[in-house]
Amino acid sequence: SKYVKGVQCLVETGITQIPDAYIQPPHLRLSVTKFESSNEIPVIDLAGLEDDRRSGVLEEIRNASERWGFFQVINHGVPVPVIERMMDVSRRFHELPTEEKMEHHSVDPSRSYRFQTSFNAEKQKVLEWRDSLVQRCYPPPEDDKWLKNPSDYRDAAMDYSRELRKLLKLLLAAMSEGLNLSSDTLEKCLGEEFTQMFLVNYYPPCPNPDLVLGVNSHSDPGGLTVLFQDEIGGLQVFNEGNWFEVKPLANAFVINVADQLEVLSNGIYKSVDHRAIRRIGDVARISVATFCNPTREAKIGPIAELTKMNPPLYKEYLFSDFLHHFFSMYYDGKACLDNFKL
Ligand code: SIN
Ligand code: FE2
Repeated sequence: SKYVKGVQCLVETGITQIPDAYIQPPHLRLSVTKFESSNEIPVIDLAGLEDDRRSGVLEEIRNASERWGFFQVINHGVPVPVIERMMDVSRRFHELPTEEKMEHHSVDPSRSYRFQTSFNAEKQKVLEWRDSLVQRCYPPPEDDKWLKNPSDYRDAAMDYSRELRKLLKLLLAAMSEGLNLSSDTLEKCLGEEFTQMFLVNYYPPCPNPDLVLGVNSHSDPGGLTVLFQDEIGGLQVFNEGNWFEVKPLANAFVINVADQLEVLSNGIYKSVDHRAIRRIGDVARISVATFCNPTREAKIGPIAELTKMNPPLYKEYLFSDFLHHFFSMYYDGKACLDNFKL
């Protein structure tokens, strides 16, 4: 595709109209999808996990994971300067000259890091208004398996990933307890040591924002996703026929249940469809999504204790088989999870 160089590259050529390849079909455009602006997606204060509010916080996490599949967390323990540095190197990467970013271009998900645009610019029917940097961070890659420019990228990304791993573990423990299981259950289900990667999404200003989507509607394939978004906003969650905005909240993380936790919890926790829109405005939006995934060899299926009262809703499968399905689809709305339902 002639658009593999990404949307930032297009914007730099000074376009005043988006190319047809980015125009969403009418039924997916913002003007027709139902949008509810009230902010009902829960904000949970994790500081309460440390004191006598603990059982209340565990219940809030469980309820949000069940009802929305999404919540935001504050007092999460990740130092603000670590987040700010990560956002700063992220912006500087995406603002590098196109030729330099293209040296890292790949659609091969096994690469340690890669630059890409859309989910797969070669195969997708309608392109997305976003460029991404994808980086594996656990198991920790060797020193030469990180981007070299910006020169402070590796340190910033390693610090950020280390902090995010602590947060992921804390959330997996809380979500295990929310299912009345011992706190190490979900983490153990992800295999010996869960893998971790991040996606830095960059959504440049768009001349026709209501005709495009930054990210098409999808559910996340992994275990749990922890997203940091800047103040611009655009993340929307689907719930009972409406799209709801996850309003940007300074220094908060957005947490969402992904497909593997829905399966493990036998459908109690919901992996829900979400998308990102590109608003009107002349500043690029940046988000950093961190994913924790089972190891490829991990066997995923509903946890036995959760199938006593309710029959299992999903088959048992190897995570590598799930990934195979996921990467053979084009993100065109069909949930990968459906292939594994009983
Ligand atoms: C995603 O879910 O893939 C991205 C969400 C965002 O950028 O807000
Ligand atoms: Fe996502």
